[in-house]
Amino acid sequence: MTSPLRCRYTTADLRVFTGQEARRFAARGSGDPRTDAELAWELLYRLEPRLYDRLVTAEHLHPGVLAWLPRGVDTIAEVGAGTGRLTLELIGRARQVVAVEPAAPLRRILLRKLAAAECGDQVRVEHGFFDDLPLPSDFADLVVACSAFTPDAQHGGEAGLAEMERVCRPGGCVAVIWPNHLEWLAARGYQYLSFPGPMSVEFGSCQDAAELTAIFYPHAAERVRRLGLRTVPFETLGVNPPRDVAFKVLAG
Ligand SMILES: C[S@@+](CC[C@H](N)C(=O)[O-])C[C@H]1O[C@@H](n2cnc3c(N)ncnc32)[C@H](O)[C@@H]1O
Repeated sequence: MTSPLRCRYTTADLRVFTGQEARRFAARGSGDPRTDAELAWELLYRLEPRLYDRLVTAEHLHPGVLAWLPRGVDTIAEVGAGTGRLTLELIGRARQVVAVEPAAPLRRILLRKLAAAECGDQVRVEHGFFDDLPLPSDFADLVVACSAFTPDAQHGGEAGLAEMERVCRPGGCVAVIWPNHLEWLAARGYQYLSFPGPMSVEFGSCQDAAELTAIFYPHAAERVRRLGLRTVPFETLGVNPPRDVAFKVLAG
């Protein structure tokens, strides 16, 4: 069965991509969002960014992860910042924060959120990709990605990890929050931390929960709708909660 997210888009929608995006996201795999879930997510970011933002706004990071992140450093660079789930938590931890995000519609939402929080001058938002970061070498004390980096070349890969490490200063830390492919990162010297405790997705309303699970977690949608749930445990959705981080402190 094709998932509801993949059913939302067709190959005609690929025209939303810039040349750089098409080369990274549409030139590999089938090139058809109906069979390529990663491609469907990239189209979601560009065609329905507010729908995407409603989902991530409900998925909070574990407080242990936020407490683990450094404070009082000079510079933090975040890659794949999206609409700012992590970015807003980075404000006040460093003299400067730079958020790199390739999808223009997500950057616009992030800029609006920063302005609403009166933090527009504390974060520089830049266009860029994992494999070609618009930042100098040894730039940041912390280089971090949240729910964005994967070993696939289109979402990081070897080139993307090398770029994050290039941008990190000696003695600084590269962190991948909510990582997948732990063995791949461990083989490249990354340590792993996971914070315990129950975690749920906290939707804005029961109606939101029913609508968003029908699109993003269809196997759980009937239960969410039938029970009128607004708060849905990650186990019900069948996904690993955002409770962990893979990190490497670079040699000083
Ligand atoms: C699931 S979202 C997570 C966004 C945000 N970090 C968060 O936690 O809410 C994945 C993000 O990675 C970005 N992304 C995808 N491919 C990328 C690439 N090659 N380089 C940098 N960012 C990328 C997407 O545009 C999107 O903002």
